[in-house]
Amino acid sequence: MTVGPVSELATDAPNARLIGGHSVLLSYRNSSWWAIANICPHRGEVLSDGLVQGDCVTCPGHFWRFSLTDGVKQGDERVRVATYPVRVVDDVIEVEVPDPEPAQSLREILLAHARAEDTHD
Ligand code: FES
Repeated sequence: MTVGPVSELATDAPNARLIGGHSVLLSYRNSSWWAIANICPHRGEVLSDGLVQGDCVTCPGHFWRFSLTDGVKQGDERVRVATYPVRVVDDVIEVEVPDPEPAQSLREILLAHARAEDTHD
C-alpha cells in the first residue's frame, strides 16, 4: 500500500502510520526503510511512543527492546513483532501489509470460547 512521499517521513525518528488497518512503525536505518508492527506483543503498548536508540526501539510499557529492522526482541529471539516489506518507487514509500483479519461477531467469539471450554475435560 502506498504510504506517501519519502519527503514527508522523518529519517531521524520513527514514523507511526496506519497502513491497511495495521499500525506500523516506519524507520530509516542503514540507508534503507524498514517497517515493523507498532504494537508491542507483550501488552499492546504503542512502540513509537518508546525510546529509539541505535537500531532498536524500547517499549514504553515494560522496556522490552525490539529491532527496528527485523522485529526481534533483544535477548529473546522467540519474541518478535511482525515485519513488512518496504520499497521506494519514484520517491514514494510502499509497504506490503497483509489484509486485516475480519472482525469477529460476538456470536463467533462466544462460540469459540464455548468450544475451548469443551476441550478442558
Ligand atoms: S507492553 Fe511492551 S514490554 Fe510490556
